Amino acid sequence: MKKKTKTFFYCSNCGYESLKWLGKCPDCSSWNSFVEEQQVATKNPTPKEAAAPEMIGAIEIKKDMRISSGFVEVDRVLGGGFISGEILLLSGEPGIGKSTLVLQIAKNLGRDYKVLYCSGEESKEQIKYRGNRLGITGESILVSAENNFENVQRIIEKEQPDFLVIDSIQTMYTSEIESAQGTVAQAREISAKLLKLAKNSAMTVMIIGHITKDGGIAGPKVLEHMVDAVLYFEGERYYQYRSLRSYKNRFGSSSEIGIFEMAEEGLVEVLNPSKFLLQERAEEAPGSVITAVYEGSRAILLEVQALVSDSHYNQGRRVATGYDYNRINMIIAVLEKKIGLQLSGSDIYVNIVGGLKVSEPAVDLAIALAITSSFRNKSIDKDLMIIGEVGLSGEVRSVSNLDQRIAEAEKMGFAKAIVPVHNKTLPKGAKISLMKASNLAEAIRLTEF
Ligand SMILES: Nc1ncnc2c1ncn2[C@@H]1O[C@H](COP(=O)(O)OP(=O)(O)OP(=O)(O)O)[C@@H](O)[C@H]1O
Ligand SMILES: [Mg+2]
Ligand SMILES: [Zn+2]
Repeated sequence: MKKKTKTFFYCSNCGYESLKWLGKCPDCSSWNSFVEEQQVATKNPTPKEAAAPEMIGAIEIKKDMRISSGFVEVDRVLGGGFISGEILLLSGEPGIGKSTLVLQIAKNLGRDYKVLYCSGEESKEQIKYRGNRLGITGESILVSAENNFENVQRIIEKEQPDFLVIDSIQTMYTSEIESAQGTVAQAREISAKLLKLAKNSAMTVMIIGHITKDGGIAGPKVLEHMVDAVLYFEGERYYQYRSLRSYKNRFGSSSEIGIFEMAEEGLVEVLNPSKFLLQERAEEAPGSVITAVYEGSRAILLEVQALVSDSHYNQGRRVATGYDYNRINMIIAVLEKKIGLQLSGSDIYVNIVGGLKVSEPAVDLAIALAITSSFRNKSIDKDLMIIGEVGLSGEVRSVSNLDQRIAEAEKMGFAKAIVPVHNKTLPKGAKISLMKASNLAEAIRLTEF
């Protein structure tokens, strides 16, 4: 192998490679994201013989191709379980529970498979300490605190694990290139090696990666292209739950979410998220409406509350928490003009429960109906969820990703939904009963006031 040292500039956001420094990344449009790295370019050796191609019909698949993680929620996100030879990237903010989740998965897999957990972050004792908390007692998980990749490779060759955990990619380094630990070049190189290892053996590889402030996987966003699945482990700042979602999945849908709660004994699956998320909801309360927002690449159900009360002032007060103040005033104006609600003498408070900030107009209709419900002092059916944007003429406008919102509502156990009549993508085969509204008046009638 010939070695040649080169200086490269990498976009620390997406991994774009350039020979000179660039102010703006031509690939992902990030500013000032380029970092200089020394790299020893290694010329790839020519293989001795080519892997023989096979007719697709003749390729045999083992029956147990899918390996259950032992978690219903994780399997759901994976598309039914891990696939042998699959390489996955799990990322999330510091301290969110990545190591905990993976160690718990390792515990489950350890019953039937050989697991190697390589941590460059923690000592074996620290991993053992966490293991105690998670109730890991057996010898089924091999733990290594090695962070040199060549050594990890030696351990893999000797132990031949079925499942390998790298915690985390940023703490591993390969001696084959000169770049420092944690650099884009290192992450890329190690991932490429892992990819080869995983595809050549039937070993499933889970790589943990840290996320940067702006949500990118620190440096090796380029990893996303190389791996089979990219999973994000997130905590909603104002909720107690943690969610696992896939951003990319070659072997399953990428719109599934798994929900967990962090407890003393580790992560506990939340198998009934509707109950969990909306557990503090006063179901028969007027002014309460459930809707679905679409955040990033997933739908979240949330409660919108409105309180309309007689004002002690000439001019009613309007208070909005979690939603655009001007947008609320627009909705109130439409309710006055098109529905004839006398709201000018009332104080109106609108609250997105849980402290979430929502900027999506798809929540308009839920807010309009929450205000109407409170004004008329009549509660809205607890099994009904409401989705739609409201236009200035009182028309209900279509929303994006209705399928995912409805899927989430179904998953959360809702029976009915009011949706925009003109929506281009009405979910096919929805179990939920869909009521289509073309304008605000129609939507109000559908809530059976
Ligand atoms: N005894 C405990 N009871 C409940 N929760 C705990 C307990 N001990 C730790 N935790 C939770 O576990 C979290 C840390 O989990 P973990 O170390 O798996 O996260 P991580 O994503 O791997 O973090 P890092 O990025 O630092 O590696 C803490 O933030 C805390 O919420
Ligand atoms: Mg960790
Ligand atoms: Zn970039």
